[in-house]
Amino acid sequence: MQKGNPGDIQMEWTEKYGGAVVYRGLAGNERLLISDPRALMYVLHQRCYAFPKPSGARSALSNLLGEGVLTTEGDVHKRQRKIVNPTFTQSAIRDFLPLFWRHSPHELSPAYINDETINQNDVKLLDDKMKMNDQATVPSIVDVLHWTSRTTLDVIGESAFSYKLNSLQRGENGDVIADSFNKMMTHVGQLTLLERAQLHFEQFSIFDGIRPLPTSFNKRARACYDAVESVAQKMLKDRREGTAPPETEKDVLERVLRANEDSSVKQSQRLMPHEIMGQLTTLILAGHETTSTALTWVLYQLAMHPSIQESVRKEILEAQQINEQEGKDDLSYEELHALPMLNNVTNEVMRLNPPVHSTNREAAEDDIIPLKYPIKGEHGQTIDQIPVRKGQAIIVHIATYNRRKDLWGPDADQFRPDRWENLPLKILQSGVPGHSLSFLAGPRNCVGQKFALTEFKAILSTLLATFSFAPPPETTKVDSKQVIVTRPRIRGMESQGTQMPLCVTPLQ
Ligand code: HEM
Repeated sequence: MQKGNPGDIQMEWTEKYGGAVVYRGLAGNERLLISDPRALMYVLHQRCYAFPKPSGARSALSNLLGEGVLTTEGDVHKRQRKIVNPTFTQSAIRDFLPLFWRHSPHELSPAYINDETINQNDVKLLDDKMKMNDQATVPSIVDVLHWTSRTTLDVIGESAFSYKLNSLQRGENGDVIADSFNKMMTHVGQLTLLERAQLHFEQFSIFDGIRPLPTSFNKRARACYDAVESVAQKMLKDRREGTAPPETEKDVLERVLRANEDSSVKQSQRLMPHEIMGQLTTLILAGHETTSTALTWVLYQLAMHPSIQESVRKEILEAQQINEQEGKDDLSYEELHALPMLNNVTNEVMRLNPPVHSTNREAAEDDIIPLKYPIKGEHGQTIDQIPVRKGQAIIVHIATYNRRKDLWGPDADQFRPDRWENLPLKILQSGVPGHSLSFLAGPRNCVGQKFALTEFKAILSTLLATFSFAPPPETTKVDSKQVIVTRPRIRGMESQGTQMPLCVTPLQ
C-alpha cells in the first residue's frame, strides 16, 4: 500500500469488489473500506456519533491540536459545533472576503515570481516554448505549492485571530507560527520508520504505549501547538484588557467568544478557555494546508488543460471588467460564486484531487451498515448490508468515492469541469450533499467549507487574472503523497519533498 499514489490500491479493490471491501492492515487487524453512497451516509450522517474516530487517532490529534471540534466526540462535539458554526455562516464569510482578496498574491507579484528556479536547463526549454506564446513575457519555473501554502497560512492567521504572519513577504521562517508549521510539514514528508509506525498504529488504542515517544515529529508537532497557543493567549489577554485593535472585531476568535457568551447558550454548554484555544489551533491546521493543496492541484490541472484555463480566465476578467465599469472594487461574494466556469473548475478539482483522501472511523457498538449497491460475497452470495462488531475499523475513502467509474462514468479519473453541468443520475441520487465527498458529510462535515471555497475562488481568480500557468518540464511526472493532506511531488525528486513546479508567466 505504500507503493504507488495514495488511493490507487483502494480504487483497484473497489473496482473489483464494489463499495465495501474488507482487508487486513499492517497489524493484521481487519478494516472495512467503504465507498458505497448509502454506507457512507449511514456512517457519516445517520449514525455519525455511533462511528467515532478511533480513540488512538483522537488522542494523537488532541496532543497536537488540543480539544477542538476535530478531536471531540458525542455531546462535547455537538456542544462545540453549536458555538463554532455561526463563525462560518454565509454572512460571516462575506465579511472575510475582503481579507481573502487582500491576501491574494496579485499585489505581491515580484516576490511571487522568479523565485524558485529549480533547473536552469528546464527553464531554458520552457522559455523557448513560451516565447511562441503571445502572452509570454518572463516565464519562470515556480514551486506553486510553496506559495499557495504561504498565502493560505497568512489568510488563516489573520482571519482566525487577526494575527499578521506575512509569510508571503517574510518567508516561512519569518514568524514563529509559520516556521513551526513549515518544519512540521517538511518533516511529515520525511518520516523515519519509527515515526511512520507510530502514526500508523495511532489508529489503534492498543498501541498507546508507543505514541508518546519523543520523536522529532512529535516534538515538531508540539512546537506548532505551542506557537499557536502562545500567540492566541496573548490575543485573548489583549481582548480581556480592552487593548485589542478594532480589526479584531470580526475575526474567528471574537466570533467564537461572542457566540459562547450569547444569552441563548446555557452556562453548562459554554466552551472552557482550553476549548476556545483548541478551536483556534484546529482551525489553523485544518484551514491552511487543505486549501493550499487544493489551489496547487487546480493550478496543475489548469496548466495541463490550457483551453479550460483560458476560458475560466476570460470569465473572471470579464466579470472584473464589468465591476470596474460600475465603479466597484473586487467581486462580491454573490458575484464570485455566480461564475459558472469557476464553479465547475472548483467542484471538479475538489472531486478529482481531494486534499483529504480518507478518514478513519470505528464502530462504537455492533451495527449493520446498509449498502445502496449490493456486492458479491466470497461464495458468490449477494450482500446488501454489512454487519459490524464493536471496535470494527472503518476507512471512509473520499478519493475512491469521488472517482468511482461505475457512479461518475468512464471518464471519472479525468479533469472535466463541464461534467458538473450534467451529472450522472447515480451521483444525483447518491444522497451525498454537494455530490462529491471532499468536505465529508453529516454533523462532522468540514465546518470551514464555505470559507474554503470562497478563499479558494478569490485566490484562484487573482492568480488567473495575473499569471498564466503552463505544465512542468516534459520529463516531469507528477505523483501524489500523503503528508496529512495529499500533496504533489515529482517522480525522481522524492528527496526534495512535496512540490509543484509550474511554468508561470505574468500576463501583460
Ligand atoms: C479545500 C479545503 C478543505 C477541505 C477539502 C477540507 C476537508 C475536510 C474534511 C474531509 C474534514 C473531515 C475530517 C475528518 O473527519 O477526518 C474536515 C473537517 C474540518 N475542517 Fe475542513 N477542509 C478544508 C478547509 C477548511 C478550512 C478553510 C477550515 C477552517 C477555516 C476547515 C476547518 C475544518 C474543521 C474545524 C473540521 C473538523 C469538523 C468536525 O469534525 O466537526 N477546513 N475538513
